[in-house]
Amino acid sequence: MGILKHHGKIERNLLALVLGIFVTVSIGGIVEVLPLFTIESTIEKVQGIRPYSPLELAGRNIYVREGCYLCHSQMIRPFRDEAERYGHYSLAAESLYDRPFQWGSKRTGPDLARVGGKYSNEWHVRHLVNPRSVVPGSVMPGYPHLLSTPLAADDIADHLKTLKTLGDPYSDEMIREARADLAAQAAPEAEVEGLLKRYPKAAVGDFDGQPGRLTEMDAVIAYLQMLGRMVDFTKFDPAAADR
Ligand code: HEC
Repeated sequence: MGILKHHGKIERNLLALVLGIFVTVSIGGIVEVLPLFTIESTIEKVQGIRPYSPLELAGRNIYVREGCYLCHSQMIRPFRDEAERYGHYSLAAESLYDRPFQWGSKRTGPDLARVGGKYSNEWHVRHLVNPRSVVPGSVMPGYPHLLSTPLAADDIADHLKTLKTLGDPYSDEMIREARADLAAQAAPEAEVEGLLKRYPKAAVGDFDGQPGRLTEMDAVIAYLQMLGRMVDFTKFDPAAADR
């Protein structure tokens, strides 16, 4: 066994051993680090991707707080069975403004990456209050407190500002209007023209079935109804996105 004999030599020579370890570990390091230098081109530029609206962002924060990611993934893998069940596979760009990302690692419940628009707001309210009222046999816990907890949103502009320091493209106007946009998105008769210009395709209206109240339920459903709806896949061309 020639190679083992040489190995013996290396093991008995401290300098050779240290050099050998260094070279071996470097290869592992380079393989992991090099792709990061091309990250700009790894994330395709995709039409329609925008940062979350203030209400969606508040809902996302509650989603993270409640640990929904422990049972739900938000990443449709590029396999046929996944695409048939959930829709187009997830694009890296769709997680661009997710800090932290919500890909998840376990699916006790279904993937939620494209759940937006799949159910009505009423369905979500009933399901989140008591999943078994609409899906008999569901093992998902109820979250009835979302319906009775007023949404604490006074600091929402600060959330946008913080994300801006990390590179999310929130404009000064978006930050200035954050509190008003948040309220308008969940108010049934609000003026939403500005909101929809700033955040195209945002779902608007009374989400929680309590028109006079702004609750955590409003925020979570506004977030769920947005998931997977930013990219128009009837017009999406993966080859063009790669260029
Ligand atoms: C203990 C695991 C668990 C947790 C935690 C959990 N879920 Fe679920 N969820 C499930 C299961 C199982 C289902 C499938 C049965 C059903 O629809 O209730 C489901 C279904 C859903 C659906 C319907 C998806 C579809 O395509 O039919 C939505 C929406 C949803 N969950 C949202 C949430 C949100 C929001 C949270 C956090 C507030 C959450 N879930 C927390 C297990 C969980």
